[in-house]
Amino acid sequence: MRNKIAVYRKEHFNAAHRLNNDSLSKEENTLLFGKCNYANYHGHNYELIVKVTGEIDEKTGYVIDTKILSELIKKFVLNRFDHRNLNLDVEEFKNLNPTAENIAIVIFNILRPLISNNLELKVILYETERNYVEYPA
Ligand code: NI
Repeated sequence: MRNKIAVYRKEHFNAAHRLNNDSLSKEENTLLFGKCNYANYHGHNYELIVKVTGEIDEKTGYVIDTKILSELIKKFVLNRFDHRNLNLDVEEFKNLNPTAENIAIVIFNILRPLISNNLELKVILYETERNYVEYPA
């Protein structure tokens, strides 16, 4: 078996969100989410890193063509998320709290069917420079 290698594509989007659990009281939500619960939303500069791992294709020398990967991310993720209000504009978050964790899982689920089954996929999402998540863990 040949060696596996990882390819990373870094992208960026800006989006607004509000963290809130509708089944909890106003007080509980304030306590749980603090500033992120402010009624009128707030924004983040999200850094999105998509990692694709697999064997090198003999014909191309690539694991995945990063141009194609970049286009997939732009078309199916950034076009839907960038400069949007995640709670209001993105269907997946109508009933799902748009935490970094949940955003990463949603992005993974969008991209997974678009990338060959032979390749492993991982999504790393920075909500701030210091806070980031990775899915699958
Ligand atoms: Ni926030």
